[in-house]
Amino acid sequence: MGDIAIIGGTGLCDPKMLSHVTSGQMENFYGTIRFTRGTYKGKNVIFLARHGKYHSIPPHLINYRANILGLKKLGVSAILSTTAVGAINPDDQPNDFVLPNQFIDFTSHSRHGSFFDGGINGVVHVDMTEPFCPTLREAVLESASELGYDVHPTGTYVCTEGPRFETPTEIRMFGMLGGDVVGMTCVPEVCLAREAEMCYATISIVTNYAAGITKRPMEHKEVVEQMEQNAERLRRLILHTVEL
Ligand code: HPA
Repeated sequence: MGDIAIIGGTGLCDPKMLSHVTSGQMENFYGTIRFTRGTYKGKNVIFLARHGKYHSIPPHLINYRANILGLKKLGVSAILSTTAVGAINPDDQPNDFVLPNQFIDFTSHSRHGSFFDGGINGVVHVDMTEPFCPTLREAVLESASELGYDVHPTGTYVCTEGPRFETPTEIRMFGMLGGDVVGMTCVPEVCLAREAEMCYATISIVTNYAAGITKRPMEHKEVVEQMEQNAERLRRLILHTVEL
């Protein structure tokens, strides 16, 4: 197996805990990625901050294709990402970890969702029966159990376009469709990783109740604060998974 990459979402812009850390940059057909390379207990780990080092890139403007192709070219074969989410399912509560096994795509066409745009890249329809890598998901579950962390072992991630939050009616609809959590970044990241034949899983951290489930207005500040509170637990879970 090649190296593992961590794509850190909101609240996880710094890998910490890695040794022999160096910064790197790599250009590919879709753009330039900036990453950190390090080791954890002898394993090579590449860390990429999805929203940039200073959280300046919003979900709808992330260059998902550059990120995934860049990691592929760096020799990465597995990607473990973190995603902040709102809870739609009443069983999911703020601070919970959820390991999605399905997604519903409500992003719009402002995102480039495929490497296969026709022409020299061809037309390819990738299977999405099991979008998230079962091997990596299993490793996360095992690692959580060893650390004594509770994780919802499955869940349907609804991906919205953002950057606005959802209306309560949208959230009610997502719930009726079977959505458990809502976020803005997992699609097309997971799809591109599958197209690139890379193993991909995401650990979702519930930072808030989704719109309408809470009566309070939604605030990005709340999401960031909740993520920061959970960052240490999350880092431990990720690095223990890397170790397995
Ligand atoms: N909606 C969309 N994205 C999110 C949310 C939410 O409630 N919380 C964290 N990311």
